[in-house]
Amino acid sequence: MIIYAAKDYEEMSKKAAQIMAAQITLKPNSVLGLATGSTPVGMYRHLTEWNHAGELDFSQVSSVNLDEYRGLSGENDQSYRYFMNTNLFDHVNIDKARTFVPDGLAEDADAACADYNEIICSMGGIDMQLLGIGGNGHIGFNEPADAFAQGTHIVDLTESTIQANARFFESMDDVPKQAITMGVGNIMSADKILLVASGEAKAEALYNSLYGPVTPQVPASILQFHKNVMIVADEAALRIIREKGLI
Ligand code: GLP
Repeated sequence: MIIYAAKDYEEMSKKAAQIMAAQITLKPNSVLGLATGSTPVGMYRHLTEWNHAGELDFSQVSSVNLDEYRGLSGENDQSYRYFMNTNLFDHVNIDKARTFVPDGLAEDADAACADYNEIICSMGGIDMQLLGIGGNGHIGFNEPADAFAQGTHIVDLTESTIQANARFFESMDDVPKQAITMGVGNIMSADKILLVASGEAKAEALYNSLYGPVTPQVPASILQFHKNVMIVADEAALRIIREKGLI
């Protein structure tokens, strides 16, 4: 595990973008595992700028996203498909036919989960998986649980996640209560993992995940068992780790 400390959100975004860009440069046909949330927005902006400057080519890149809300179509401006289109895919020369996000509207949820596992498999696995982290240590939408989930599955979102997401919706009734997410097993199968974290609200989750016991109650703690994890975090997110003298 390597921790890159950044002074603030902007520096974190640039460093994370540099790592992702290096991956694409080294392997132009990389399969990227991508993430949503506010944390990677700045990183996607840098990648877009470098693409526009002719410095970074997405033409051979494929992507699989971590998760999607259940019940939202890709046209809904709160869906993760919409997020990916507007924050990255619409602005770079990626072939959208090779960008995958779980189907939030699938009627047969089990089939949709199996299909998504198959998509990841047929691409030959994920070269670099980007992750944010929830305030409760969740990754993708793998919430604290009694066991780590292996493959793509349907989850009931926890109350704290529903509350955290409420700011994006007009009323509590509109906030999705379920999601379809890659499992911890899918995430752990990626060759490399890049986790980004920013802000004081992530300090405890980051400390518990990187230095606490490995437990499904803190889903990101499983990353301690991955062979190639890079963490890019700002000083606010690293506060507890820094105070304890661990970096
Ligand atoms: C959601 C997403 C996660 C993301 C998390 C944190 O729950 N499913 O993938 O990491 O939010 O989001 P933010 O970066 O906005 O704090």
